[in-house]
Amino acid sequence: MSTVVIVGAQWGDEGKGKIIDFLAAQADVVVRGQGGNNAGHTVVVGDKKYALHLVPSGILYPETINIIGNGVVFDPEGFLKEVQQLEAEGVSTENIKISDRAHVIFPYHKVIDELSEAARGAKKIGTTKKGIGPCYMDKVERSGIRICDLMDREVFIEKVTQQIEKKNEIIEKIYKGKSVNKEEIIEKYLEYADKIRPYVDDTTVIVYDEIIKDKKVLFEGAQGTLLDIDLGTYPYVTSSHPISGGFTVGSGIGPNMIEEVLGIAKAYTTRVGKGPFVTEQDNETGDKIRVAGNEFGTTTGRPRRCGWFDAVMLKYSARVNGMTSIALMLLDVLTGFDKIRICTAYRLGDKEIHNFPASLKTLSQCEPIYEELDGWTEDITGAKTFEELPVNAQKYVKRIEELVGVPVKIVSVGPKRSQTIVRDKIFK
Ligand code: GDP
Ligand code: IMO
Ligand code: MG
Repeated sequence: MSTVVIVGAQWGDEGKGKIIDFLAAQADVVVRGQGGNNAGHTVVVGDKKYALHLVPSGILYPETINIIGNGVVFDPEGFLKEVQQLEAEGVSTENIKISDRAHVIFPYHKVIDELSEAARGAKKIGTTKKGIGPCYMDKVERSGIRICDLMDREVFIEKVTQQIEKKNEIIEKIYKGKSVNKEEIIEKYLEYADKIRPYVDDTTVIVYDEIIKDKKVLFEGAQGTLLDIDLGTYPYVTSSHPISGGFTVGSGIGPNMIEEVLGIAKAYTTRVGKGPFVTEQDNETGDKIRVAGNEFGTTTGRPRRCGWFDAVMLKYSARVNGMTSIALMLLDVLTGFDKIRICTAYRLGDKEIHNFPASLKTLSQCEPIYEELDGWTEDITGAKTFEELPVNAQKYVKRIEELVGVPVKIVSVGPKRSQTIVRDKIFK
């Protein structure tokens, strides 16, 4: 068995796309198990930059099987657009497989996402408006439409007709919005059905068989641990399970089939969307990180909120994921800071706490307790080994390792494949 789960250790956008592409050079299969095209995974190859949303980040390797698992919510329009773009750039999309159990996103999901956000007013979540939450709501309510339904014209028309009638009542009566057109949706989705049919399969069988054959399988997490519907900063989260355990349900494997859990973490912290953020630097420091790290959303283009590395959060993330290693990303962004801070504990009133609290009220009252380390000024974007890094950069990485209690096996010093320092192997 040779399996690695890649999870976002913070609030998403940690650089998962880069590491998945990097490790995909050795992998036979890459599997997405949750989320949808709310994800934006960037892969840089030479001068080319690919922004992947639904298509797994192993797509640049023609031999690799890229699976969109049963736990994903699937937007056919977004998918076909992405496939068209990749093909136009000469990337083959033949090896994509879509689970027949994945749930389908419809225009009414996007409309309801938008209207419910507007109705939340100041309490809005800041969703990507891709219809993710409303689609998962239908799934859990047991009224969702799956890929296997879409593949059957008769079943599909019956189910979607019922859904459109129900959703239009919600749109018009609750939100005073504009209803969606039934005939248009049916016609469009029947066309999509024919286009995606060649990709559809029982992906749980493929994943299982490949693991049993000892093939190298990479599980591609989307979003991040603190966006998990159960373990994240609820309600400022996404509607799926971005943690490692999410792959057991999201791709149909047993938990004993997960060997290595690689947490992807930035050398600092970012968040896009609303919600508490203990180490946020809404000041010059945050601006400096945003500019150096080009911290603008891959999916929505929104500026990301920036702050210092939070070891309390990372320790929590390591625990709930069973993290066995860390890839520390964007270390180059911290070059030029005189002093670099790491949050080692939270102050809550007159107490010091080390566990990430559940209550948002409590979390918003937490003050970061920082440890300060000396920075470095040398350009590190060309470093090939850990020893080539300035001593202060090495000390920073080692301190994170010590605080979190998980080895940093990869250090990333730039967006390209070549800007990756591997300290220890990931696939066994
Ligand atoms: P993902 O959602 O976790 O895949 O991350 P995103 O692609 O949304 O955001 C990460 C951004 O950081 C992308 O623009 C990457 O190209 C970029 N990136 C990844 N690793 C590094 C790194 O080590 N240094 C720098 N400067 N950029 C990086
Ligand atoms: P990747 O895979 C960062 C955030 C949104 C919002 C919340 C809910 O690129 O790391 P949703 O549309 O999912 O209902 O929005 O989750 N969010 C992400 N933030 N990276 C992502 O994906 C995200 N996907 C969703 O900004 O706060
Ligand atoms: Mg992203």
